[in-house]
Amino acid sequence: MAIVPDTGTIWERAFATRAGSNEEGSLAAILALAGATDIISFAGGFPDPETFPGRDLSDIFERLMTSGDPSVLQYAPVAGLPGPRDFMAGRLEQLEGARPAEDELIITSGTIEAIELVSKSLIDPGDLVLVEGPTYLGAIMAFESYEANVVAVPMDEHGVNVERLDEVVARLGPPKLFYSIPDYQNPAGITLSEERRRALVDVARKHGFLIVEDVAYRELGFAGERLTSLWTLAPDVVLQAGTFSKTFVPGVRLGWGAGPKEIVAKMVWAKQNTDQCSGALGQRLLEEYGRAGGLDQQAIRSRTLYGRRCGLLMDALDAHMPESVTWTRPAGGFFSWLSLPEGNDGIELARRSVAEGVAIVPGAPFFPESGGAQNVRLSFSRVPDASIDEGIERLASLITPTKGSN
Ligand SMILES: Cc1ncc(COP(=O)(O)O)c(C=O)c1O
Repeated sequence: MAIVPDTGTIWERAFATRAGSNEEGSLAAILALAGATDIISFAGGFPDPETFPGRDLSDIFERLMTSGDPSVLQYAPVAGLPGPRDFMAGRLEQLEGARPAEDELIITSGTIEAIELVSKSLIDPGDLVLVEGPTYLGAIMAFESYEANVVAVPMDEHGVNVERLDEVVARLGPPKLFYSIPDYQNPAGITLSEERRRALVDVARKHGFLIVEDVAYRELGFAGERLTSLWTLAPDVVLQAGTFSKTFVPGVRLGWGAGPKEIVAKMVWAKQNTDQCSGALGQRLLEEYGRAGGLDQQAIRSRTLYGRRCGLLMDALDAHMPESVTWTRPAGGFFSWLSLPEGNDGIELARRSVAEGVAIVPGAPFFPESGGAQNVRLSFSRVPDASIDEGIERLASLITPTKGSN
């Protein structure tokens, strides 16, 4: 009788080091929780489908299909179709006051691909990559998949501590890149102050390293305000990575990278054998919708919706949380970051809260090394208004308050 091999063991031996292990805190696990419909989910950073312009897109689609333009359904140039590229460059000019030159812009399949392409272009095994602590889990996973040594620099209420960053760089040497989410950060909901933005680009210039500025939530300030982007301050050392997932629809998987032409050229090279080009159909839908003013109108509706949800979340936290719990009060974006009192563990709380029908994300996976054990992230972007208070009341009942507080 043939001996049936244990394929699990075979695959374990076959995997590359960079494939890592399938940890519980992986992005896929969070996305699975966020998709569940029978629970109140403060988990994934999903946009609310209420903001999706389905009717407008169906009209544009109809027009594109009858236009006779074959480029809509064809492969696109690696860096993107000319029309959508011109639209994106013009939009950056309108929003950031600067227009990237032809060789300073690439259309990507979402921000995560921009991060992937820059990682593929810059990171050799063991290279130092600095990030904010905490930061976006997808970015940590991308950097680690290229076997980077990912080190977090602490944040406070004004964003990353730039003096500490300067010290870390002086001690460990310049990193291949520093990854930052300056606006309404994921997961902390914090915005980097104007003063620190200037200090940060000075540090990058002084030591000579690239800043990857992830602007995923930049257009979602509840008051419509915008601090100066890092890319505007220092296009010589900043690659801005943006996305249309939160302000248009994630279904088209579209984003951009704008920055130094040498970096963009390497990203274009790297994209040739990832997906070769971002989908032409999505690019043209975005262009037509954006040129007709759709993105601007959608942003106004989205800011109102998310601002209202955030307000409801803050009211619920104020009403139900023990005094010993603290949280951030975001001015935009999707997230608030909770700090739990002694004796509580974020992972344990996430497990127990799922059993009570409430999904949250524990803080630990948002740090590359240790950290976040007593934190959890709450996303308010896709929780129905009417469920926010109940969800927070249930969550609060599972937290052990510090002795002496309520
Ligand atoms: C900070 C940040 N960057 C990037 C992304 C992913 O963007 P995209 O859908 O464009 O890949 C997210 C989404 O969760 C995010 O929070």
